[in-house]
Amino acid sequence: LPVRVYKNEEIASKKVAQKIADLIRRKMQAGEKTVLGLATGATPVRVYQELIRLHKEEELSFDNVITFNLDEYYPMQPEASQSYVRFMDENLFNHINIRRENIHIPDGTLEKEDIAQYCLNYEKKITKAGGLDLQLLGIGRTGHIGFNEPGSAPNSGTRLVTLDDLTRRDASRDFGGKENVPTKAITMGIGTIFKAHEIVLMAWSRKKAPIIKKAVEGEISGEVPATYLQLTDNVEFVLDKAAASELT
Ligand code: F6R
Repeated sequence: LPVRVYKNEEIASKKVAQKIADLIRRKMQAGEKTVLGLATGATPVRVYQELIRLHKEEELSFDNVITFNLDEYYPMQPEASQSYVRFMDENLFNHINIRRENIHIPDGTLEKEDIAQYCLNYEKKITKAGGLDLQLLGIGRTGHIGFNEPGSAPNSGTRLVTLDDLTRRDASRDFGGKENVPTKAITMGIGTIFKAHEIVLMAWSRKKAPIIKKAVEGEISGEVPATYLQLTDNVEFVLDKAAASELT
């Protein structure tokens, strides 16, 4: 499993942003669109900051970029402060020249009975766009990627899932208490993520070291969904020293 370790989060994030920028420019030159799978949370924030800088200072254009976010809480109103719609707007989309119609984030406002069809359609849209060129991932302390919690099937698609208790505890600060964290989310599946041409999983800080050890060196199992990434060779782990500190 290719693991790259950088001195700190800032340097690592710049590397990832540069990789994305190179991809966008290469595809643009070939007259093609770039399809990015994006993540929210603390981990990718500096990557997005660097992409914004590249847009403002180095003419990186997002005119030919299509994005699909991994997940959204359910239920969730887009204008709520914890929504991933809001997160993406504030941390990236409001600061670059992406077309609104090219942005896709799972809809947290659906009626329950409409979710299954919506999820199938989300998959179809990814396929129709040509598939994900590059998927960015963080990792939760449960070993989740997207919100594919322990027990997720390796061939799972986009669907409604129940969040793990630890995931809700980790989100409790954003919601002012665990009891306010939604119990569910809509997430791309492991199978959806696997179809990406390239996958980059990032992790920073000591807090992530134990789960990174399991993900990289542990037995492949649904108990730690990130271990499924050991089965593909188009994944790269990008870590800071602290997150890599338990690797042998
Ligand atoms: C977010 C997502 C999650 C996070 C993970 C880590 O879209 O899919 O898997 O990547 O929970 O969260 P942070 O980065 O906040 O530690």
